[in-house]
Amino acid sequence: MTAPQEIRTARLLLRSLEREDIPAIVRLAGAYEIAATTVQIPHPYAENDALKFLTQASEEFQAGRAVSFAISISPGRGLCGAVGLHLADAHRRAELGYWIGMPFWGQGYATEAASAAVAFGFETLNLRRIYAHHFAGNTASQRVLEKIGMRHEGRFRQHIQKWDQFIDIENYGLLAEEFRKGGPASGGDSNRSGEPARRSDGSREGE
Ligand SMILES: CC(C)(COP(=O)(O)OP(=O)(O)OC[C@H]1O[C@@H](n2cnc3c(N)ncnc32)[C@H](O)[C@@H]1OP(=O)(O)O)[C@@H](O)C(=O)NCCC(=O)NCCS
Repeated sequence: MTAPQEIRTARLLLRSLEREDIPAIVRLAGAYEIAATTVQIPHPYAENDALKFLTQASEEFQAGRAVSFAISISPGRGLCGAVGLHLADAHRRAELGYWIGMPFWGQGYATEAASAAVAFGFETLNLRRIYAHHFAGNTASQRVLEKIGMRHEGRFRQHIQKWDQFIDIENYGLLAEEFRKGGPASGGDSNRSGEPARRSDGSREGE
């Protein structure tokens, strides 16, 4: 088990990762494009990598260090991606991470899943802060973070070594009070889309 409960959104089911997901994880997370913009996902990606991912997600959940969801497109239960929160309990904060299989890109699924995970973090886990990063140039992930209401908090230069390159990362964060108000406080250079964060019921501030 990797998550304490299922979450339903307008189009998705977020559920615990299961051993039955291994073939889909290998097929989808195995794409070069998924590994290229993530820190942890290796390439090539073998069945044993999926097993390790599952075992680690389960152990971290048992230890209270992470909650990891498989993303399924309702009404099916087949996996199209994953989203998770890595928890630092002592600080009531978590790091958000996600990937979506390439056949499912560009349909708003990452935004919908990340938004639900963030709402779960604030409303159910009672977190104070959720943060995330993307590799510089990963426009799709930048848009996801902007659309879920995160504030851009700055760039860490050459922070990650990925294969033979040192990569800049862009950091984002959202505080509980900003989430409750529908997005980050004004100022800063974040939330460049101007769209407020969505609450778990899909509504926005003022709706
Ligand atoms: C980042 C990722 C999760 C986005 O998934 P997705 O389901 O396609 O995202 P959404 O459909 O919610 O789209 C988010 C935004 O990105 C845009 N987008 C999608 N693919 C894009 C691309 N290849 N280039 C530029 N923008 C892109 C969408 O148009 C949308 O923005 P818009 O609303 O302004 O039009 C997916 O590309 C992915 O898994 N990438 C590899 C792993 C990864 O980078 N994970 C994040 C690590 S920080």
